Amino acid sequence: MNHSAHSAFATETLEGLRAKPKRLSSKWFYDDRGDKLFQAIMAMPEYYLTNCEREIFQSAAPDLLAQMRGQAFDLVELGAGDGSKTQFLIEHFIAEGADFTYRPIDISMHAIEMLGSLIDRRWPQLTFQPVQGEYLAALDRLGQGGADRRRLVLFPGANVGNFTVAEAATFMLQLGTYLRPGDLLLTGFDLKKDPAQILAAYNDPAGHTAAFNLNLLHRINRELGADFQTNAFRHWETYDPVSGAARSFIVTQGKQTVHLADLDETIEFEPFEAISVEVSQKYSRREIQELAAEANFRFIRNFEDSKGWFADSLWAVGA
Ligand code: AVJ
Repeated sequence: MNHSAHSAFATETLEGLRAKPKRLSSKWFYDDRGDKLFQAIMAMPEYYLTNCEREIFQSAAPDLLAQMRGQAFDLVELGAGDGSKTQFLIEHFIAEGADFTYRPIDISMHAIEMLGSLIDRRWPQLTFQPVQGEYLAALDRLGQGGADRRRLVLFPGANVGNFTVAEAATFMLQLGTYLRPGDLLLTGFDLKKDPAQILAAYNDPAGHTAAFNLNLLHRINRELGADFQTNAFRHWETYDPVSGAARSFIVTQGKQTVHLADLDETIEFEPFEAISVEVSQKYSRREIQELAAEANFRFIRNFEDSKGWFADSLWAVGA
């Protein structure tokens, strides 16, 4: 098979499994089953991030809308998922009679369909223009729509945490090139806190996080004709309070040989060899401001939950 004909999923999977050490990107977690497993994570008591950000969206909605000064705008959302938190912003904006179009971006078509049915049910009159794809490619396509309105770009949920700090700076710089003066960016950051609290959010006893991580191997088996013995792998989580990186690994117990039939490739695993699958980066308040400066944005303010565990940080385009 000609490799250039493969999907990005196939190409990046192969690259990651050939690398030393092995790695796979968490962006591929979100197939239909992955979306459902992530919803189960958001509903579990240990995963505080969702409740924190819901509280923030409820209390910050009036301030955010005031920032748009009554002008028509596009509400763009990077990694919208099922909209379970953003609905509190939308609800307020609609109640206030704001003139806006909702333009969510998500890598998962299934997530966009769930979001579409939520919108249809609750606000059938809202203009809804979803784009399926990776963030920057999707933003590029949005830009070609050519609407000349101001934009409020949401990058919620600590999705930015899936980048390392260095990657986040590069990404935010690139993101800025798609924005214009007057546009605003609201990014969700999980704040540095008691390491025990953070570790518990990614190490739940019910095993939802483990299932979410291991689903990636099931996806590779299904979509790339591979034969991972998925039950030989275990989820392993670490949190480094210095760097603020929570990292997820999946570790094979025994030695194993995996064939990726569709890619005509064989991958060997030594006993206890690990695949790095996710980083969930935590930030201090100072680090958020430093990131804004590095990426050429002007820091406006943070909105925090009452526990001070999570921050949605509002930035304007231009240093
Ligand atoms: C959706 C990227 C914010 O890193 O906290 C949850 C994904 N991974 N549990 C996170 C996730 C394991 C989540 N983000």
